[in-house]
Amino acid sequence: MEGVGGGLGLSLLLCIETSCDDTSAAVVELAAEATTIRSSIVSSQHEFHAAFGGVVPEVASRRHTELLVPTVDDALAGAGAVWGDLDGVAVTTGPGLIGALLVGLAAAKAIAYARRLPLTPVDHLQGHLAAAYALGVEAPFVCLTASGGHTLLAVVERGVEFRVVGRTLDDAAGEAFDKGARLLGLPYPGGRELDLLAAGGDPACVAFPRSLPRDFDFSFSGLKTALLYYLRDHEGVVAADSPRGGGAARLKPERATERAARRASVAASYQEAIVDQLVSKTVRCAEQEGLRRVAVGGGVAANSRLRRRLTDACEHRGLEVFVPPVALCTDNAAMVGLAARYLEPIAWPRYLSLDAYAAEPGLGASRRRR
Ligand code: KG4
Ligand code: ZN
Repeated sequence: MEGVGGGLGLSLLLCIETSCDDTSAAVVELAAEATTIRSSIVSSQHEFHAAFGGVVPEVASRRHTELLVPTVDDALAGAGAVWGDLDGVAVTTGPGLIGALLVGLAAAKAIAYARRLPLTPVDHLQGHLAAAYALGVEAPFVCLTASGGHTLLAVVERGVEFRVVGRTLDDAAGEAFDKGARLLGLPYPGGRELDLLAAGGDPACVAFPRSLPRDFDFSFSGLKTALLYYLRDHEGVVAADSPRGGGAARLKPERATERAARRASVAASYQEAIVDQLVSKTVRCAEQEGLRRVAVGGGVAANSRLRRRLTDACEHRGLEVFVPPVALCTDNAAMVGLAARYLEPIAWPRYLSLDAYAAEPGLGASRRRR
């Protein structure tokens, strides 16, 4: 079929993704009718960054160099493949942390060059939006891509070609989760922790502001400030079991329970304000564009409340919704293979001069720093 591995007849692809703090490798099989994920390995570095409260770029690059070879070995073993089975290599070339990207790109070039294979460069955002293809979505569709560095509402026109309809004007949605988690005294990585805390809370407890920038753009920095002021004015909400709460041991048990419930409800209310904005704009975009299919991708798409609310909103309007499994939303290399299906591979050895890029020109898409 048209577009499979750019017509070079690529079948088995080794995929590498090292744009931030996860060292990932996958083996995917491109067939005429579908892409099959034969293996997908993510070696998390979270424990190395937790002490700093965020990703330290230099630490990430060093860990990638240590983890990449065993991660690739595991991906090959998981797929039951050997080097000689590979028909090509695909790798994320940007946007992301430049040092981290360069580790993956150098490894991908070395493997492809040594085995005389073609190499497919993949954009990280194209990877996130291609995750929905694992569920069989067909273009055109509306895709919300929300991660630690990006919040993008796009119409995917064909393959991984997309038109940007809206983007964040300030913080990315993942950044809003991470900063909110930090204010609530939750450990890194904050988004998942906030999601877990919010599960036991009342999302209607605090009426955090819903900023609604024009059209399909997003804004989250005002919300983060509102949480900051709320916590300042309601001392003790950052409480009980949190590292910043202090004094938990001095609280009577019933006071501690009350505080824990309050904290969960503040987290749930904050999360709801982020999710409201994401869901309402995504659904409205589909309606305005006259599209019946909606997908989501990126680390924030792992959020349980966003998954539920987007599914409900789409079903309510008769829209078909594609919410990839959590492992395909947070950074992984399988999505690189799902995107590579629609991209042109570079023949051996022309890719040796290929470079990585930290930010996407025109998208204002720089990766979050500490
Ligand atoms: O796509 P991703 O893994 O890496 C980037 O490309 O940035 O996204 C990471 C972001 C982080 O901000 C993280 O806190 C957020 O996704 N995230 C979540 C959840 N899991 C990860 N945010 C909310 N709820 C979650 N369950
Ligand atoms: Zn990502």
